[in-house]
Amino acid sequence: MKLLLLTLVIAAAPAARSSGVDGVWRLDQPKAWGVTLHTYLVLHQKGATLEGGVYPNGSGEVAIRDPRPEGAGFVFTMAWGWTFHVRPDGANLHVQILYGGDAHDEAAAVPASEAEIRPPVAIAPPALRALPDNGLLRTPPMGWNSWNHFEEKVDDKTVRETADAMVKSGMAAAGYVYVNIDDTWEAGRDASGAIVPNRKFPDMKALADYVHSKGLKLGIYSSPGPVTCGGYEGSYGHEEQDARTYAAWGIDYLKYDWCSAGRIYGIPELRAIYQRMGDALLHCGRPIAFSLCEYGMGDVWTWAPLVSGNLWRTTDDISDNWKSMTNIGFNQDKLAPYAGPGHWNDPDMLEVGNGGMTPAEYRTHFSLWCLLSAPLMAGNDLRTMSDDTREILTNREVIALDQDPLGRQATRLSARDGVEVLTKPLQGGGLAVGLFNRNPAEAEASFTWAEAGRTAPPATLRDLWGHADLSPSGDGFRGRVPAHGVVVLVLR
Ligand code: GLA
Repeated sequence: MKLLLLTLVIAAAPAARSSGVDGVWRLDQPKAWGVTLHTYLVLHQKGATLEGGVYPNGSGEVAIRDPRPEGAGFVFTMAWGWTFHVRPDGANLHVQILYGGDAHDEAAAVPASEAEIRPPVAIAPPALRALPDNGLLRTPPMGWNSWNHFEEKVDDKTVRETADAMVKSGMAAAGYVYVNIDDTWEAGRDASGAIVPNRKFPDMKALADYVHSKGLKLGIYSSPGPVTCGGYEGSYGHEEQDARTYAAWGIDYLKYDWCSAGRIYGIPELRAIYQRMGDALLHCGRPIAFSLCEYGMGDVWTWAPLVSGNLWRTTDDISDNWKSMTNIGFNQDKLAPYAGPGHWNDPDMLEVGNGGMTPAEYRTHFSLWCLLSAPLMAGNDLRTMSDDTREILTNREVIALDQDPLGRQATRLSARDGVEVLTKPLQGGGLAVGLFNRNPAEAEASFTWAEAGRTAPPATLRDLWGHADLSPSGDGFRGRVPAHGVVVLVLR
């Protein structure tokens, strides 16, 4: 009897915090621009074993990997390549996050409750219907986006200077027009529920006016979820209000990134959720191009035009290296039928000039994107780019392939020994041919006129990087292509 009573008393007492790392923890990460991001850790410790997950920046659970005890705590990693060191720190949890490179954070996480990480109740998605075409982006959009180079280090000054540089460098004259702010511009909402930019962007309307005064357009970023991928305020439950706010500011382009919406909705709801914002943009009183970013889930290319979408990401995020770029660029073949005026496959933004590839590799990257009729969103620092980078980004002969009014995306003609030949039909009967060498050494590449659908040599054969007319003869073209390089030709 006595023993039973004692057991009951212990069971009724609140779970005493063990001296380990077990528990739900909230790490507050205040930013200099007045926003505090929250990362949660849910850790289940049993002696020397640890299980659980991390909820970075308000997103869904990412499982922890390879936990091992270290000192009084643990070390573990998670899918994004982050490494965590955690140890008890009085009532708190000491957390160090290594993001790779030199970047790291170190702070005390405080005890939190499961309720804080629960996603909000799902707002019922709208009934599906086919929205009209918004009439925008008859050719793939050209511009710049802050994410690839600047990530969170983007502000009003950077955007203004980028607009200046876009004009000064000759990029605007070559066709670039959108200056797009990606994630991390948001603060929160005011009493009326309107979205408010954080201190990095003191006056969005004034910024739009400035960008417009240069003959350019301003783009912005949001998410259908409660928070963006970076943990900033999303448009969940405020879609129409946000579209009206963008219109009032003078925004011309919205990139809408799935992110935390994935905690509330699944693949079957994707279309309806994008339709909600597509509809809001159509009725906001200003033409705003609609860029869907959900990494190619749910065969987005089959329904994006029905939500008034102009472009849709087909892949996960690009990185500034040869492997990432080629994995994406050479795997877009099957999507070619879905591209056309007003509706573009988006293999992600350009990395040209960001430093992780050679000039030859960046020429390959740019040529490939142009042949694929991909959006040309420069992702580098336009203010400081080298002549090499500027020459690549402003090669008008190659850009003309991307901007060809027919809007046909290239398909693969052949792939042999690491050499891939892609062809893209052009308005007026011309044909663009890209000969890509994926090998780390120079290689020979060729195609016959017959393979290019001709019975005789073309009247003209233009080399778009050599800026020269070649003399077509014999039964086809044969040439040397540098390691990881490209030869781009136009037959007419
Ligand atoms: C996702 C997108 C990126 C970028 C970041 C911002 O990863 O795919 O292009 O917008 O979010 O947080």
